[in-house]
Amino acid sequence: MKTLEIKNLHVKLNSKEDDASRNFGVLSEGKSKEILKGINLNVEKGTIHAIMGPNGSGKSTLANIIAGNPKYQVTKGEILFEGKNIINLKVNERAKLGIFLSFQYPQEIEGVTIFNFLRTTLGEINGRKPSIMEFKELLEEKSKLLDNPENFYERYLNKGFSGGEKKKSEMLQLSILNPKLAILDETDSGLDVDSLKIIAKGIKSLKEKNPEMTILIITHYKRILEYLTPDKLSIVIKGRIALEGNAELVDSLEEKGYSWIEED
Ligand SMILES: Nc1ncnc2c1ncn2[C@@H]1O[C@H](COP(=O)(O)OP(=O)(O)OP(=O)(O)O)[C@@H](O)[C@H]1O
Ligand SMILES: [Mg+2]
Repeated sequence: MKTLEIKNLHVKLNSKEDDASRNFGVLSEGKSKEILKGINLNVEKGTIHAIMGPNGSGKSTLANIIAGNPKYQVTKGEILFEGKNIINLKVNERAKLGIFLSFQYPQEIEGVTIFNFLRTTLGEINGRKPSIMEFKELLEEKSKLLDNPENFYERYLNKGFSGGEKKKSEMLQLSILNPKLAILDETDSGLDVDSLKIIAKGIKSLKEKNPEMTILIITHYKRILEYLTPDKLSIVIKGRIALEGNAELVDSLEEKGYSWIEED
């Protein structure tokens, strides 16, 4: 069964977000450049599916459009989640269906503690806010995996966090929300060797506890995929899927880069 099925997806920046058209008036509204140019992608339920590709090829855009970020606009094609077209659903509606996106560059939120943020988010998704005691227990259980310091949850979300701490706070979010589809955008970038191991193992044990969870992982490096062996790998180049393969393809990329695929 497919968790995610993307058919001939074309995406451009929403004109409001398009700095080029605002600042220079060169591109008129609605004519901003296409970022995704006919993506076809099948993600099977319960698999780890890796996405790789050169900088600027459209990987984060793909992650964002699946999660429903209004910055981007679908101009053609379909995104089916568990067989249902979700293109017209808002971000929070997609989250309720079980779609989770971790960010390449997580935002800082002043005045909201991790504790409150996670408790509220869980309440919104499940339709019932857990009591403080209930939530505290859940948080303690989940945080064992991540090796976070004690006062971590009382801190404001991502405020003053180091790069690695931001990623850990997102992984905590992932383990608490336990989504059907987790999209991880460069969860491994900027992590030291030990933190990478903790995070990768945390995701792995989450997946083992919940084998039905589907993971779409975007990365530039082989390291994290050594812990989370992908069932399938899709390579995005210039807004299209240029090549697909299995875990062995990662080795060829590490060795040869991407130019040989572009030439083919
Ligand atoms: N908000 C935006 N404003 C202007 N251009 C954008 C915006 N978002 C994406 N783009 C452009 O779309 C293209 C794809 O960007 P995207 O972030 O999806 O790439 P990526 O594959 O995730 O790259 P990286 O590996 O560097 O993270 C790039 O050329 C980028 O400049
Ligand atoms: Mg990116």
